[in-house]
Amino acid sequence: MVSGEDLREVMRSFPFGICVVTIELEGTRTGLTVGSLVSLSLEPPLVGFALGQQAQLHELLHGAGDFGVSLLAGDQTALAQHFARSVPPIALWTGIELRDEVEGPPLIADALGWLRCSVQAEHPTGDHTFFVGEVVAAAEGRDAAPLLRQGGTRNRRIGHGAPRTAPESSNG
Ligand SMILES: Cc1cc2nc3c(=O)[nH]c(=O)nc-3n(C[C@H](O)[C@H](O)[C@H](O)COP(=O)(O)O)c2cc1C
Repeated sequence: MVSGEDLREVMRSFPFGICVVTIELEGTRTGLTVGSLVSLSLEPPLVGFALGQQAQLHELLHGAGDFGVSLLAGDQTALAQHFARSVPPIALWTGIELRDEVEGPPLIADALGWLRCSVQAEHPTGDHTFFVGEVVAAAEGRDAAPLLRQGGTRNRRIGHGAPRTAPESSNG
C-alpha cells in the first residue's frame, strides 16, 4: 500500500509552477496558493487544479462559479507563503498590490500572467476536488522567471526558474 508520504517523496524531484487562485463571492475576496494548476485543453480553453476538500476556498469556489489565476514570478515567494496561510479575508489583502479589475476575482499585480475562468466541472478526487475551469480571459504579464515548488513540504524550498526569454538557462 502506497502512503501519501510515499507519493510526496517520489514527486519531490518533479518541480511545478505556483499560482494564486482567487474568488470574489458577495463582495468578499479570498485567495489560495495552488501548485496543481494544469492546462487541460485548447479548444475549448480549459485549465484545472486540485483543491483540498478541507480548504476554506472549497465551498466558496463551489458557490462563486468563477475564479481568477495569477501565475507567480520567482520574486513573489512572499505572496505564495502569504496565500498559503489561513488569514481572515480582510487581513488577506492588506498590502497586496492588485491589477485594476472592474469586477470579478482579484488578480495580483506583477504576475507572469493572469486567467479568468468559469467553473465547468468539479470532480471528487480522493481528499481533493479537481476543479475544471473554462478560460474566459487570459493575459500575459511580466517576462520573468516563474516561481517553482521543488520538493519537500509545501512551505519550503520554493525556488524560481528561468525567464521565458532564456529557456537555455538552468533553474536557480
Ligand atoms: C507551494 C504550495 C502549493 C500548494 N498547492 C496546493 C494545491 O494545489 N491545492 C490545495 O488544495 N492546496 C495547496 N496548497 C495549500 C494551500 O495553499 C493552503 O495552505 C491550505 O489549503 C490551507 O489553507 P486554508 O486553511 O486557508 O484552507 C499549496 C501550498 C503551497 C505553499
